[in-house]
Amino acid sequence: MLSDAGSDHDKDRGGSAGLGTDHDTSRGSILDAPVADGSDGDSPPGAGWHRVGPRDDCFADAPCMQATVNGVKVGLFLVDDAVYAIDDLCTHGHAMLTDGELDGFEVECPLHGGVFDVRSGKPMCSPVTRPVRTHPVRFYQGGVYVKVEG
Ligand code: FES
Repeated sequence: MLSDAGSDHDKDRGGSAGLGTDHDTSRGSILDAPVADGSDGDSPPGAGWHRVGPRDDCFADAPCMQATVNGVKVGLFLVDDAVYAIDDLCTHGHAMLTDGELDGFEVECPLHGGVFDVRSGKPMCSPVTRPVRTHPVRFYQGGVYVKVEG
């Protein structure tokens, strides 16, 4: 196994839902993160890339999944054969975006209905005002890989 990444769509996420907690996103910024677009890359992923799982299995049941990489809960979203990765924790309160509804490139937070664009992490409507971090994703030999800075 190449990584500590693992699917863990658990419901025990510690803490309770709260209003206006605005998590710190200063560790990263909105990036034009590379996106796995449906084709395998030519070269093996290097240092820092974590294998999430087999591409055919990751989205077999739903268009999104959660993985924990470097201690960060990451939401991966499949849209039109491309995969986008963002921090799963909403920047407004304690809710996981993979528990929300995905509509095109937008995911709606299940707690208060804030919406993020999964391509950029950008907040699209109230009450969310701060972006979530994006993370690069790629495919290699049938696997989905994501790179997450701690
Ligand atoms: S927790 Fe309030 S919009 Fe996500």
